[in-house]
Amino acid sequence: MALSSPLSSLLSFCEMLCVKECCGIESFDFAPVHIASWLQQSRGEPAQKTIGDLKQQLGDFKNRFGTASDTEGYESGEDEMNQIFSPEQVDQLADQLLTNLEHAVALTEQSNIVQWKPDGAPATTEHHPEFGNQFVRALAWRYACKKFDANRHVSAEDLETILNATNLSASSFGLQPYQLVVIQDRALQEKLMPVSYNQTQVRDASAVIVFAIRTNIDEQYIKDNARLTEQIRGLEPGTLDQYAGQMIGAIMGMDDEKRARWASKQTYILMGTALAACAMLGIDSCPMEGFVADEYDQILGLTDKNLRATIVLPVGYRAADDEQAGFAKVRNPLDKMVVRIS
Ligand SMILES: Cc1cc2nc3c(=O)[nH]c(=O)nc-3n(C[C@H](O)[C@H](O)[C@H](O)COP(=O)(O)O)c2cc1C
Repeated sequence: MALSSPLSSLLSFCEMLCVKECCGIESFDFAPVHIASWLQQSRGEPAQKTIGDLKQQLGDFKNRFGTASDTEGYESGEDEMNQIFSPEQVDQLADQLLTNLEHAVALTEQSNIVQWKPDGAPATTEHHPEFGNQFVRALAWRYACKKFDANRHVSAEDLETILNATNLSASSFGLQPYQLVVIQDRALQEKLMPVSYNQTQVRDASAVIVFAIRTNIDEQYIKDNARLTEQIRGLEPGTLDQYAGQMIGAIMGMDDEKRARWASKQTYILMGTALAACAMLGIDSCPMEGFVADEYDQILGLTDKNLRATIVLPVGYRAADDEQAGFAKVRNPLDKMVVRIS
């Protein structure tokens, strides 16, 4: 018997996270944080209902195949966990999942990143004009920092917030044809300075984020993305096959150079999001195109990872004597920037 959604979707998601993000060994840890991210991803669904359905399914699973049943346990197929579970193991698995689900719900409620509410309505649907004002103020505060204070460090939590925000950027077809390379290694940062036209920001920043395009986008990558969407949204495998075919036609129809240009445009969208996220956190940054991409690729071993650097963002805190911080912002007035047609 194959398990149905939402339980099957949760299992696939946890497996995928374990394989991709953890140790690389195919395993299911059902860590609360993984379950929490699955809950977060499926926030379009009424979350309470999803949680209720899951609990119901786990209870049914235990009753049907656990020690209270007269079966020999549960044999999961290749699409699931590909294992034989004795009745005792079924009980253990269901109980562990139920406990971790409770932890995951608590995590989701605590998180300041997750905008999920118990009734399933994303908090961001509410109109908050004051956020707009804060956002504009933050953008007016930010500037391209020329001199960082090498002794001040961005906290691990803030750095994760910047990365999370950046990961929420829009991308063409949602294909995210890029990766972020995060460097927090003074010796390596020193090496990058001469190939960044001696701009000191890369040496002194608390972290340097290199935005890199993937150079190995192929049919499989696109199919994997469609599969991921199916898993996260609890769709039957194959639902998005036709859509994947359209994406493959569009993306693989480009020659390598055009595809690289397409991908690199997406990294500039990332940069915009990252700059805004830093500004909201009161963290300084400097978008940089002034570096020799081939040298970065070589020093950071990006070519071997099928990556190519396109743009760089040192982040940290401004030095007290960075003159640039005191300069007035120079922007065209809105009537020069905006063409209104109504
Ligand atoms: C794509 C791009 C590349 C940039 N490259 C550099 C750079 O290599 N070094 C630098 O100090 N500033 C760089 N800047 C910063 C701009 O000079 C700066 O954003 C612009 O002058 C506006 O000033 P503000 O960001 O301080 O408001 C770059 C900005 C962008 C958007």
